Amino acid sequence: MLDNFFFVALPYIAVLLFAGGSVYRAFTGVKTAFRGRLTWSARGDLLWTTRSTGFFGRASVGTSALSLHWGLVILVVAHGVGFIGGAGGWPVLVDFFRWAGMFGGLLVFYGASWAFVRRLVVPQLRAMSTREDYLVLLFLIVIPGLGLYHSVVQIAFGVSYAVGPWLGSLFTLQPDPKLVAGAPLVAKVHMIANFIFLAYLPFTKLVHVFSYPMAYITRPYISMRSYVGLKR
Ligand code: HEM
Repeated sequence: MLDNFFFVALPYIAVLLFAGGSVYRAFTGVKTAFRGRLTWSARGDLLWTTRSTGFFGRASVGTSALSLHWGLVILVVAHGVGFIGGAGGWPVLVDFFRWAGMFGGLLVFYGASWAFVRRLVVPQLRAMSTREDYLVLLFLIVIPGLGLYHSVVQIAFGVSYAVGPWLGSLFTLQPDPKLVAGAPLVAKVHMIANFIFLAYLPFTKLVHVFSYPMAYITRPYISMRSYVGLKR
C-alpha cells in the first residue's frame, strides 16, 4: 500500500507538478502583474532569479557555488547512466554511476552545506534570506547526504539494478512498485525526498535552471568594478 503511494503515485504526481508547474509559472508568473493571465511572463517574474548574494560577502562564496552546480551536472549524468546500466544489466555503467556519483555527491554536499552556513553567519545574508532559500538548500544537503550515506557508509551500492527496471516500468506506464520493494530504506527515503523536491522546484527560485544564459559565451563583457576600484 505504502509502496504503491511512494513508488507509483508520488513519482507521477512529482513529474506532473514539475512539468505543469514550470510551464504554468513561465506563463503566468508568481506575484507578478501577469498572474492569472496566460502570457509569457518569465521576464516579469522577479522571483525567477536566484536573488544573487554576490553583493554581500562575495569572498565567502569561495568554491561552494562552483562545486554545487558542477556537482549537480555530474549527478544528473551519473544517475542517468547508472539507471540505464541497471535496466540493461550493464555493470560498467553502474560502476560509472558509483564513482562519478560519489564525486558529484561530495561536491554538492560540500557546496550546499557551505551555502547554508554562509547564510546563517553573514549578517546581511541572514537578513535577506527567506524560508525558501534555506529549504532548497536543506533539500540539496539531505538528498545527496542520504545517497552518500547509502553508498559510502553502508556500502550498499547496486540498487540501480532494481531502480533502472522500475523507472522503465514508470516510463512505459506499467508501474511495478514490487521492483523496488526490497531496496534499502535509506535509498527509498533518498528517492522519496527527491520526488518531493522535484514537485516543489517550480515554485522556488530554482526555476532559474530553465534560464541558463545561452548567450553567455558570445555576449559582450559586463564590467563590474568595486567601489574602491572606481575611486582610484
Ligand atoms: C528522481 C531522482 C533520483 C533518483 C530516483 C535517485 C536514486 C538513487 C539511487 C537508487 C541511488 C543508489 C544507487 C545504487 O545503489 O545503485 C542513488 C545514489 C545517489 N544519489 Fe540519487 N537519485 C535521484 C536524484 C538525486 C539528486 C537530485 C541528488 C543530489 C542532489 C542525488 C544524489 C545521490 C548521491 C550523492 C548518490 C550516491 C552516489 C555514489 O556515492 O556513488 N540523487 N540515487
